[in-house]
Amino acid sequence: MQQHVAFVVPFRFETSLRFLRAALDVPGCAVSLVTQEAQAAFEPDLVRRLAGFQQVKDALSASSLVDGVRQLAQRLGRVDRLIGVLEQLQVPLAEARAALRLPGLSVDAAVNFREKSRMKDVLRAAGLPCARHAKATSLADVRSFVAAVGYPLVMKPIDGAGARNTFRIENDGQLAEALGSFPPHATTPMMLEEFIVGDEHSYDAVAIRGDVVWHSISRYSPSPLTVKENDWIQWTVLLPREIDGPEFAGIRAVGPRALSVLGVGTQLCHMEWFRRKDGSVAVSEVGARPPGAQFTTLMSWCHDVDMYKAWARLMVHDTFDPPQRKFAAGAAYLRGQGHGKVVRIHGLDVAQKELGHLVVEVRLPKPGQEHATTYEGDGYVILRHPETKVVEDGLKRLVSIVRVELQ
Ligand SMILES: Nc1ncnc2c1ncn2[C@@H]1O[C@H](COP(=O)(O)OP(=O)(O)O)[C@@H](O)[C@H]1O
Ligand SMILES: [Mg+2]
Repeated sequence: MQQHVAFVVPFRFETSLRFLRAALDVPGCAVSLVTQEAQAAFEPDLVRRLAGFQQVKDALSASSLVDGVRQLAQRLGRVDRLIGVLEQLQVPLAEARAALRLPGLSVDAAVNFREKSRMKDVLRAAGLPCARHAKATSLADVRSFVAAVGYPLVMKPIDGAGARNTFRIENDGQLAEALGSFPPHATTPMMLEEFIVGDEHSYDAVAIRGDVVWHSISRYSPSPLTVKENDWIQWTVLLPREIDGPEFAGIRAVGPRALSVLGVGTQLCHMEWFRRKDGSVAVSEVGARPPGAQFTTLMSWCHDVDMYKAWARLMVHDTFDPPQRKFAAGAAYLRGQGHGKVVRIHGLDVAQKELGHLVVEVRLPKPGQEHATTYEGDGYVILRHPETKVVEDGLKRLVSIVRVELQ
């Protein structure tokens, strides 16, 4: 059945466009673009493939989205789906879908995934393991959490993304500093969490009508918070080939239950979780959207399929063919040390000689490029091999050889 999909890309972000292009390739699907940007901001050959283009005033507002979809429907006929990948978009999208009576994640579920405090309330109520937490709207809330839980703790926005404004707090001085910058208030609540010590992982799962039908697992090294705290760390993420063994039994049991209690529906979700020192699992947070930071690309390399297209088919037709994991894959994120612009990259010749045979994708920092402000870094290299250990060692070696010089 032909589906008319309204795809929301609020701003011209490369990641969003990659998912949009994938939707354009799904058979039985006509795609219209809803955006805040002018049509001229998009490449003509992308615009040419669209069924419709609809500029809206505020693409993060449900009422703007509803207006936009109604205008599209008037010009082009019924809209069947309303989708988008941006984290900040998930609640307005759900609200607009509810107003337009379109299928997809409900508002209630979208808020469960979006609001970190409610997410943990739901997980904890279901008996699922996660950090102790509090939503602080006053200094008194902060004091009582510190009295109950102690240090270290994490303070972060209730609806953050990309580890922005996220702090590890180890003593009263650091707490005072963080509170100075982000005083909690009824209108700006802060999330406080017990600090979980452990290895951070992701669990990226496909659910259809609430049932998990497939998953991928990856390990961050070091954790996104450590990466954020040290803006020179060249971090890595590893997707091991073997994820069916006892090592991951914990998350395979907890992951689907967590998604189910949050109200997953049909979705590719990105869950973050910790393996504590004693081996136990703690769920950290879950996005009702595909992962960023090249994770979707990495999953594609591991399974030899285009996961962008697989996601688009899932969202448009509710179908997914679970692919086999044939390789381990991993990314090394290249980050310059210090300040300024990229001037030079050192070590590429050695890296090429030693690791060239493992490299499947590269985005090198370009001389003249501004130093990146996000933890995704100035560039990345993706390695792939049937043996996990080869990729793991390759990533370690790569970040020790390659150095991005800034000036
Ligand atoms: N309770 C916690 N214990 C230890 N580290 C945490 C905790 N909460 C967050 N972090 C660290 O901060 C990072 C960002 O927090 P997260 O909740 O994932 O927010 P975001 O939506 O910004 O990704 C995490 O990836 C993790 O490294
Ligand atoms: Mg996170």
